[in-house]
Amino acid sequence: MESLLTPASVNAERRELAMMPKRRRGAAWLVMRVTNAFFRLARNPVEAIADDEEWRTWEVDCFRLLHGPEFTAMCDRSGQPFVSVLPGGDLSRHLSAGTLKPEHLAAAGAELRRAHRLYSEHHGAGWSHGDPHTGNFLLDAATGRARLVDFEMRHHRELPEVRRHADDLLVMLQDVCGRCAADAWLPLATAFLEGYGRDEIIASLGGLLRVPRGIPRVWWAVRTSWMRRAELERRIAALREVLKQRPVQGLASPSCAAIASSSDFSASLQS
Ligand SMILES: Nc1ncnc2c1ncn2[C@@H]1O[C@H](COP(=O)(O)OP(=O)(O)OP(=O)(O)O)[C@@H](O)[C@H]1O
Ligand SMILES: [Mg+2]
Repeated sequence: MESLLTPASVNAERRELAMMPKRRRGAAWLVMRVTNAFFRLARNPVEAIADDEEWRTWEVDCFRLLHGPEFTAMCDRSGQPFVSVLPGGDLSRHLSAGTLKPEHLAAAGAELRRAHRLYSEHHGAGWSHGDPHTGNFLLDAATGRARLVDFEMRHHRELPEVRRHADDLLVMLQDVCGRCAADAWLPLATAFLEGYGRDEIIASLGGLLRVPRGIPRVWWAVRTSWMRRAELERRIAALREVLKQRPVQGLASPSCAAIASSSDFSASLQS
């Protein structure tokens, strides 16, 4: 449930903790509707949360779930969401500046693993982000800890947890792949996956590492900063090779193998 606080209590909390407002443009719902229509065509398994009230609840609840009790989020009486200012800067800036290091991505991977272990009431299973690109990870340089922000997208509820988690990995990898130097790609990608460390999810990621054609390709192009197909395929194939060599313990367990081979899961990889 969204927490509705009075301005007085918001101010009281804000005195102790720096808070920032989360705002959307007035016509956000319209942009989101168009975005969602495109996502369906592109087979991107997330929805942009169009309804304002639903977004505010999701934004506040996710922030609290991931960052409470150290940090907090709330809506004031007018419904404006506020979130704690988290320490550090986002990884996208490092990626743009060419200063993104494997250890930064290992920290992001470890944080995503922690977040995926939290329970999402909405999904009735492990939580997932839906849009965890480098711009949505803040890295606290003092502690080496990464944290997630920006809860405006959400995986479709009916998607199996394994598929949602593998998709979160894919989003980050696409962003890094499209914007890093050629020789940095594998060290960065593998550091992220090792930081994440869940074999059964990493194994299922292999099925998503194919550059598609048609409209899904357009979404891949957006995600990978319009990297040319030949180079993109070369990088993605190189990562697939690394994953093939990687010893996989998770899939050996019957529950994970069953999920990966279930018709539901296979269908979701196609869709
Ligand atoms: N709680 C926070 N503490 C500190 N910085 C934050 C926080 N939330 C967001 N930011 C910073 O603001 C940037 C944009 O915020 P966010 O990702 O939540 O919104 P967005 O919809 O992607 O906005 P924009 O379109 O402006 O990028 C983030 O990349 C991050 O650098
Ligand atoms: Mg963002």
